[in-house]
Amino acid sequence: MDLTQAHSVKLSDGNIMPVLGLGTSTKKEVPKSEAGKATRMAIDAGFRHIDGAYLYGNEVEVGQAIRAKIADGTVTRKDIFYTSKLWCTFHPPQLVRKALEISLRRLQLDYVDLYIIHGPFSLKPGEDLFPRDGNGKIIFDSVDLCATWEALEACKDAGLVKSIGVSNFNRKQLEMILNKPGLKYKPVCNQVECHPYLNQSKLLEFCKAKDIAFVVYSALGSQRDKNWVDQSTPVLLEDPVLGAIAKKHNRTPALVALRYQLQRGAVVLVKSFNEKRIKENMQVFDFQLTPEDMKTIDGLSRNVRYREFLPFSTHPNYPFNEEY
Ligand SMILES: NC(=O)c1ccc[n+]([C@@H]2O[C@H](COP(=O)([O-])OP(=O)(O)OC[C@H]3O[C@@H](n4cnc5c(N)ncnc54)[C@H](OP(=O)(O)O)[C@@H]3O)[C@@H](O)[C@H]2O)c1
Repeated sequence: MDLTQAHSVKLSDGNIMPVLGLGTSTKKEVPKSEAGKATRMAIDAGFRHIDGAYLYGNEVEVGQAIRAKIADGTVTRKDIFYTSKLWCTFHPPQLVRKALEISLRRLQLDYVDLYIIHGPFSLKPGEDLFPRDGNGKIIFDSVDLCATWEALEACKDAGLVKSIGVSNFNRKQLEMILNKPGLKYKPVCNQVECHPYLNQSKLLEFCKAKDIAFVVYSALGSQRDKNWVDQSTPVLLEDPVLGAIAKKHNRTPALVALRYQLQRGAVVLVKSFNEKRIKENMQVFDFQLTPEDMKTIDGLSRNVRYREFLPFSTHPNYPFNEEY
């Protein structure tokens, strides 16, 4: 089955993106090999979209897993949609292709299907992924993201990546790229935090109107990593309303949260490194929420943002991917 036959959307550049993707980022303490194992299990279960990034530090393992599934005949390279992300220490245009080439070398792939700007803020270039000054404060860099975008366009022209997009951009930042004089390719997607407690309906509508795929992360309420997530935030999958809808459909709250995104026209990522839950997540295609269920879930939105990283809070664009 190639990508055109899988549950997928057509991107504005004509390429095809499967609407369900496996997330590969996890907590620091989890061995990188687990991301490789999960990738193999997910491909066996029917996942065709794998979401990765330079930042996650596991592209060697994820690439090995993808190549193993190609080698054993489960899939061909064309069946797989792999995303990588340009980390924020590589925003100066002359560093963009270098960063992509490092990812490709780690993955041992000739191209990635999608390369996206990880966030609308630049950090001081160098070895350190989170550069800090003597007082422990994050060191930002000022780079014109339109120039970064032009370097991504050049990577597409060079055949190193099929599609290019962004992540954690708000409407203003998307408009900055869309209105850039001489724009060659527009972003095919914007990948942002989204779930029933932060449904981002305005940003979703804006992206739809501009033919930008709306790709959702932390759809299950994130991994509640102490380094990124305020532990006092409510646990999404324990929400009683989601629970009642799940019970009615004889599914789990997780499946309801994933299905919600598909029915509103989003592409949904889900991280699981557990075989049973990876298989369960494929059932998102096996049932439908009613219009009333959708309306009820829409009503749960309450501006809970799980991905708060306070060291970034002094940046003028913080919090990232806020609607306006
Ligand atoms: N662009 C960005 O800035 C950005 C930021 C954050 C995340 N992402 C991407 O989005 C992906 C997903 O987001 P996320 O990592 O925040 O997590 P998530 O998809 O919201 O998942 C949260 C947790 O749900 C559990 N889970 C998965 N399936 C389940 C099920 N059926 N029932 C119950 N629990 C289930 C998983 O644990 P188990 O593994 O134990 O199943 C996982 O730890 C990331 O891995 C990454 O690829 C991108």
